[in-house]
Amino acid sequence: MNENLKYRIGIDADVPQLVSIGLLAYGQYKDRVTEGNWDKMKEGLGNENTYIKLLEIATCMVCECQDKIIGMVFLVHHGHPTPVFQYDWAYIRMLGVHPEFEGRGIGRMLTQMCINQARQNGEGILALHTSEFQNAARHIYEDLGFVKVRDIDKTFGIQYYLYTLGLNNENGGINYLRANVKDVSILVENRILFAKEFSGEIPEDILSQLRVQMTDYFRTATETGACVSYIAFCGNEVTGIGSFTVREQPGNVKNPSGKWAYIMNMFTLPQHRRKGICTGLLNGLVTEAEKMGISAIELHATKVGEMVYTQNGFELHNEPTYRKYVKL
Ligand SMILES: CC(C)(COP(=O)(O)OP(=O)(O)OC[C@H]1O[C@@H](n2cnc3c(N)ncnc32)[C@H](O)[C@@H]1OP(=O)(O)O)[C@@H](O)C(=O)NCCC(=O)NCCS
Repeated sequence: MNENLKYRIGIDADVPQLVSIGLLAYGQYKDRVTEGNWDKMKEGLGNENTYIKLLEIATCMVCECQDKIIGMVFLVHHGHPTPVFQYDWAYIRMLGVHPEFEGRGIGRMLTQMCINQARQNGEGILALHTSEFQNAARHIYEDLGFVKVRDIDKTFGIQYYLYTLGLNNENGGINYLRANVKDVSILVENRILFAKEFSGEIPEDILSQLRVQMTDYFRTATETGACVSYIAFCGNEVTGIGSFTVREQPGNVKNPSGKWAYIMNMFTLPQHRRKGICTGLLNGLVTEAEKMGISAIELHATKVGEMVYTQNGFELHNEPTYRKYVKL
């Protein structure tokens, strides 16, 4: 059945055919959205620029039958972040198969080709987003090992989900994601676990006060960028968290930018310790801080945490800290 199918790399000259596959494949969802939203979707799908821009940052793979394109996909290389995809991720866009050719394994093959290519390119994480309507696509992705890690804000009235696949076997299948406001409860609940491990049981009244304060804090500070957090996932299980807060103060000789990151909240769930998760989180946070132009990073370490930091270039800063708690 598939002997006439040919797979190859897509090029600029294919753009008119890519437009028509986009409109045909995604046109199947026309009746699932409002007319206004379909018009907006169509604007992007039917515009050659959508595909031309993707070709600049991605490898396009197409499937042909008798020299006509009947399937397409784009593998966007890392370094092209969006509000959904992190800087260090590769991601899949615009998987689509001509409706008359569905069910012949073309979508699966194109997805597999993206995985192979991304692996060959040395990418660590391959991500994609898909939606509540795209059942065939979700079936393929999940079958190939992608894991749904979070819900994404609705677009065109459609619920979207973020999926990732870890390609680097050395990281033990752990994915590191920058947290957004939807992850606030993960940050709060894990910080509470951390506090309990550190200070023992916490009285109920303080616990509920903490929960309210932390929820409010993480929500606002994550939104404004005053606090940046990373979450480590194994599949969709949370295995660890880590954050830094940002402060700007008059610069000094060693740090003339005056921008500091204070790392805190580093916590790996007990059953996932000694697997390099804290180091993975730390790397994510340090890279993120660098991208924000922060040139000095500091932290207070617990005894068990010391090793991680000294092994990752942090030096003990031997200056006593004075502290006073003021009763309000
Ligand atoms: C998603 C799409 C690319 C799949 O292309 P395809 O060539 O038909 O896919 P394949 O034949 O390789 O595989 C389809 C798989 O989905 C399964 N499937 C089909 N309809 C399904 C449904 N409604 N629910 C669950 N699984 C479904 C098939 O059984 C098959 O699985 P199998 O290989 O285990 O039997 C195609 O349907 C399409 O272009 N859809 C519109 C655009 C789109 O949604 N793109 C995805 C963007 S995230």
